[in-house]
This record gives sequence, C-alpha cells and structure tokens, in this order.
Amino acid sequence: VHWTAEEKQLIASVWSKVNVEECGAEALARLLIVYPWTQRFFASFGNLSSPTAIIGNPKVRAHGRKVLTSFGEAVKNLDNIKATYAKLSELHCEKLHVDPENFRLLGDILIIVLASHFARDFTPACQFAWQKLVSVVAHALARKYH
Ligand code: HEM
Repeated sequence: VHWTAEEKQLIASVWSKVNVEECGAEALARLLIVYPWTQRFFASFGNLSSPTAIIGNPKVRAHGRKVLTSFGEAVKNLDNIKATYAKLSELHCEKLHVDPENFRLLGDILIIVLASHFARDFTPACQFAWQKLVSVVAHALARKYH
C-alpha cells in the first residue's frame, strides 16, 4: 500500500485528537449494539442485554480501549501494517475464529465514531484516507485466513 504525504497527514492529525479510552469504548459498544451477533465473542464480558448495559459495561470499555490502542499501532506503522498485526491475526483467526467480515464492520464503526467526534476535520479526503486505513487493517488482521 502506498500512502501519499497528504493521506499520512490527514490520518495523523485526526489521530492526535483521539481519546483512545472514549472512542475505543464507543466503537466497541456500537459494534455490539449495531451488530448484535458480535456479542457471541464476548460472552465472558457479563451483561450485554441492552444498549445501556453495553455502554455501561466496564469490560466493554476496557476492551474497546485495548482494541483502539492496538489500532494506534497501525497509525504509527503505516508502511508496515501486515507485520504489525501478524500475531493478532493469528489470535483472531486461529484461536478466536472471528469472521473477517467483522473487522470490516468495526472499521466502518470507527469511521462513524471519528466523523461524529471530529465532524469539521472529517472532510471527504480525510474519510478517504481513514477508509483506506481501516481496510488495510482489516486485511492484515484477516491475513491468516488467506
Ligand atoms: C482480543 C485488537 C477486532 C474479538 C483483542 C486484543 C487486541 C485486539 C489487541 C487483545 C489481545 C491480547 O490480549 O493479547 C483488535 C483490533 C481489531 C479487532 C485492532 C480491529 C480493528 C475484533 C473483532 C472482534 C474481536 C471485530 C469480534 C467481533 C476479540 C476477542 C478478543 C480480542 C473475542 C479476546 C477478548 C478477551 O476475552 O479478552 N483484539 N481486535 N476483535 N478480540 Fe480483537
């Protein structure tokens, strides 16, 4: 994947404003609410019985933060995303058996979270760069299936 200087800059400038704890929690909660079948991977997280329960669930918050922190590794290693997620791809594919479609869904949810938090920054060119990034991340995470 090639990144233009403009794309790199658009990604970095939005990322510098992201509160990983807040946006991570919101993204994972939205995934579980909007696509309820994803809850099945998180049976050990306790109460996921309603949107309110999901949003208030401390395990969802903590895991959302973990996931978005990990996403930050892609932001820092734009030219090396495959290698960055080699181990995580093994975990999600071989151990957890997460259908790769779900990586795409989470990517789209993240875009929605960023667009709603940073509406003014989120120009079409900025969205383009972020869509490209979430797609490369989803691809890297699904690599062990290929
Ligand atoms: C665990 C990252 C998407 C399900 C993890 C961990 C990280 C991570 C860093 C912790 C690994 C560890 O403890 O060593 C990501 C990233 C994603 C992503 C960067 C996409 C951007 C998903 C999706 C699902 C999922 C879409 C399912 C719908 C899980 C599960 C665990 C996990 C079930 C183990 C949770 C636990 O019991 O602690 N992920 N993940 N992940 N992930 Fe993901």
